[in-house]
Amino acid sequence: MKFEKNILCIGAGYVGGPTMAMIAYKCPQYKVTVVDINPERIAQWNSSTLPIYEPGLDEIVKVTRGKNLFFSTDIEKAIRENEIIFVSVNTPTKSFGAGAGMAADLQYWEKTARQIREHSTSHKIIVEKSTFPVKTAFAMERILTSTHNGIIFDVVSNPEFLAEGTAVKDLENPDRVLIGSRETVSGLKARDELVEIFAKWVPRDRIITSNIWSSELSKLVANAFLAQRVSSINSFTPLCEKSDADIKEVARAVGMDPRVGDKFLNAGIGFGGSCFKKDILSLVYMCRQYGLDEVADYWEAVVKINEYQKERFVLNMLHAMFNTLAGKKVCLFGFAFKANTGDTRESPAIFVARRLLEEKVNLVITDPKALNNAKNDLKGFETGITFIEDPYKAASGCDAIAVVTEWDMYAGLDFEKIYDSMAKPAFIFDGRNILDHKKLYETGFNVFPTGKPALTHF
Ligand code: UDX
Ligand code: UDX
Repeated sequence: MKFEKNILCIGAGYVGGPTMAMIAYKCPQYKVTVVDINPERIAQWNSSTLPIYEPGLDEIVKVTRGKNLFFSTDIEKAIRENEIIFVSVNTPTKSFGAGAGMAADLQYWEKTARQIREHSTSHKIIVEKSTFPVKTAFAMERILTSTHNGIIFDVVSNPEFLAEGTAVKDLENPDRVLIGSRETVSGLKARDELVEIFAKWVPRDRIITSNIWSSELSKLVANAFLAQRVSSINSFTPLCEKSDADIKEVARAVGMDPRVGDKFLNAGIGFGGSCFKKDILSLVYMCRQYGLDEVADYWEAVVKINEYQKERFVLNMLHAMFNTLAGKKVCLFGFAFKANTGDTRESPAIFVARRLLEEKVNLVITDPKALNNAKNDLKGFETGITFIEDPYKAASGCDAIAVVTEWDMYAGLDFEKIYDSMAKPAFIFDGRNILDHKKLYETGFNVFPTGKPALTHF
């Protein structure tokens, strides 16, 4: 069968996989190929157990795989055969050398750019899907054209705004699709090619275009704003706990002002996920490189408040439980960085688990989707940790429960049964404010919500 367009994505991760599955699903006339250097990942994409858990993803992969969606490890062949190449390799925080702990590590995309250059025999449109520092496209263009082999490469930026746990919904019905390009004849033509793909299912007025640098920067700014909202609301939680105010009531009152808006005002244990911290630090590093120290300090504070919030959670536990946790059994309810995903990258749970182990706690960890990732994250710390999927069994015999992930199922558990099975006095620390605190208190628990006064029997 002859397809109208051949589209490739390099990087079969949390972004590349679902995004390409949605393009294949919405555009049966296009052939979509996804490649990755990790053969295990590709094997999982080709199996009945996909490498990531995402509601609705199994269904769309099932109807497209083998028809117009293909997963492969043959990167070189795929580069030769496809004109449109999305690059969705990871850009983690650099862990070495200049900018360690701050700057984005660009080694994977640079390697990918060189690979594309080496195996291209005709015109290509390179789409930056990964989140990059501003001006990355410039470097990419330089690498691609450095051999003067006459092949034309158009680099466009198409940042992904999907959130994990709702990726399929976000891809199917995005609030906007952003495409940035060079404003040259060839750049604008490449941009139109991309617009044509998304216009197959996204209303035209939600597909916005801009110059390529605005597009690269918009992704970082969007994540900085979102993370800032979480840190802003979290920054008021200690004040609420001390002043008998209730952060949920405050958030509702503040969020009803349409100038503020009611989304992303859930106070909690701090944000996690692969993007927020990495992208803000990358932004902060960029600002410092441009000599904009005041701007860098302003945004760095968003990350500092987040670290403070996680540390505060552990210290609250320590103080509430009579200043010693050694030998006590604590159950973490949830390990994923948010509900409806098995992803644990930068999850506050990792920090909390490690700190509790330092306090010599016997840790029990339960999560419906993230236990395998949790085991990986805590490699080397296994002594003193038990992983149990059933929350009732996990909590049994524990001194305390700490809610780390806002899984719906936790609010529906029988806490009287759980209370009966626990050591006394029994404590609950609700890092997500998803439980019925009054009812828990009446059941006998000492309850420590976030940003609300504690309810204790002492
Ligand atoms: C993506 C973006 O890459 C990141 O910049 C953005 O901020 C968030 O979304 P994500 O899809 O979550 O990251 O990353 P990950 O799940 O780690 O997937 C990246 C994939 O690229 C991995 O499967 C990895 O094996 C692959 N890869 C990496 C390559 O195929 N080639 C490489 O050279 C490096
Ligand atoms: C985020 C952006 O939302 C998305 O647009 C971008 O493409 C990638 O980064 P993601 O990290 O998947 O997506 O999840 P998100 O829903 O933004 O949550 C991030 C973290 O903030 C989670 O740990 C979540 O629990 C926390 N959060 C979010 C809060 O603590 N309170 C809130 O009100 C909202």
